Amino acid sequence: MPFNSAVIGLGGMGTWHVKSIQDKVSRIHVKGAYDIRPEALEKTASLGIKAYSSLDEVLSDPEIDLVTIAIPNDMHAPTAIRALRAGKNVVCEKPVTLNSAELQQILDVQKETGKLFSVHQNRRWDKDFCIVKEAKKQGLLGELTFVESKVQGSRGSMYGWRGYKRNGGGMLLDWGVHLIDQIMQLDPTKVVKVDSHLLSVYTPEVDDNIKLMLLFEDGMSAVLEMSTMCLIPSPRWHVEGTKGTLCIDDWSCKGEMYQLKQDAAMEWDEDIVYTEAGPTRTMAPRPKYTMNKIALPKVKADWSEYYNNIADVMEGKAELIVKPEQTMRVMKVIDLLFKASEEGHGFKCEI
Ligand SMILES: NC(=O)c1ccc[n+]([C@@H]2O[C@H](COP(=O)([O-])OP(=O)(O)OC[C@H]3O[C@@H](n4cnc5c(N)ncnc54)[C@H](O)[C@@H]3O)[C@@H](O)[C@H]2O)c1
Repeated sequence: MPFNSAVIGLGGMGTWHVKSIQDKVSRIHVKGAYDIRPEALEKTASLGIKAYSSLDEVLSDPEIDLVTIAIPNDMHAPTAIRALRAGKNVVCEKPVTLNSAELQQILDVQKETGKLFSVHQNRRWDKDFCIVKEAKKQGLLGELTFVESKVQGSRGSMYGWRGYKRNGGGMLLDWGVHLIDQIMQLDPTKVVKVDSHLLSVYTPEVDDNIKLMLLFEDGMSAVLEMSTMCLIPSPRWHVEGTKGTLCIDDWSCKGEMYQLKQDAAMEWDEDIVYTEAGPTRTMAPRPKYTMNKIALPKVKADWSEYYNNIADVMEGKAELIVKPEQTMRVMKVIDLLFKASEEGHGFKCEI
């Protein structure tokens, strides 16, 4: 028998949760949804699910095993706490909360109730990220040194509730949380230094164009950039390692990777090299015979893996992939990135 679930918030993402579970996760059956706006519930008929008239009605339905929370960010914590207290397993959309203190409140209740609590960090299964992770795992790039991870839109301001502070709007909590979670999955060592530039260019109340800098204990340095007015995007990923360089252009995952040839030692030229930008030794191009172009690793990447893991955990067959303690590390980094922006300087840390 499949587990029964209900989705709270039938907006853009809530509707995606319903359809994606229906299409791809046979062990979970979406029984219904609740939304504070009755008009949002009109689509329940075409989705073939029940329209609940209140959160209490969902939480008192003994058939519901799992609740997915897909509402504006400021309401995640109170809703998750009510659902856990009602004895439901909970999947919460990102960002789990507005800060780490709020997350701690949820985790205290989760511990008390022993129910499952996980955050929908679906971008751990993005193909572009999986390629970078696999290249690192296979040692194709050596030790990673500089990693740039960027997403760049061109529509200006943050849309709807994402433009308001009270709703937990802003880019750091919206996309920042994805890119930080990915980079902390790529490098599991401690984050030892952070800094941020959080600009509010098109959305007065919140940050909308942001640059985050994270230094890891093993020496990897990451720049994460999210902008909303970029007409010529940079690559989605640019990854430099001691043995190679990888570049992924965009979500279609076109890109290339070069690796140093093991048997081709590079000789420095006796003379300075003349480039189009004048004479240089340090930045003179590397001779082509010292490197190989190699194919990007093949990966399997599907967001439905997230809910398959949730079903496995509910069946007692596996551990959570997106663990609360990982989410807590991400939220602590976010707390410090906000502080860095407010105070105008970076911080050393051990997160
Ligand atoms: N993981 C991802 O890739 C991803 C993508 C988009 C959005 N999200 C997250 O999903 C959540 C929802 O975002 P969205 O884009 O779907 O927003 P949305 O505005 O499209 O939908 C939110 C819905 O929640 C309803 N709602 C508001 N308060 C409610 C309450 N107290 N109880 C019940 N319903 C309520 C609204 O009426 C609306 O229908 C956010 O936390 C967002 O960060 C995640």
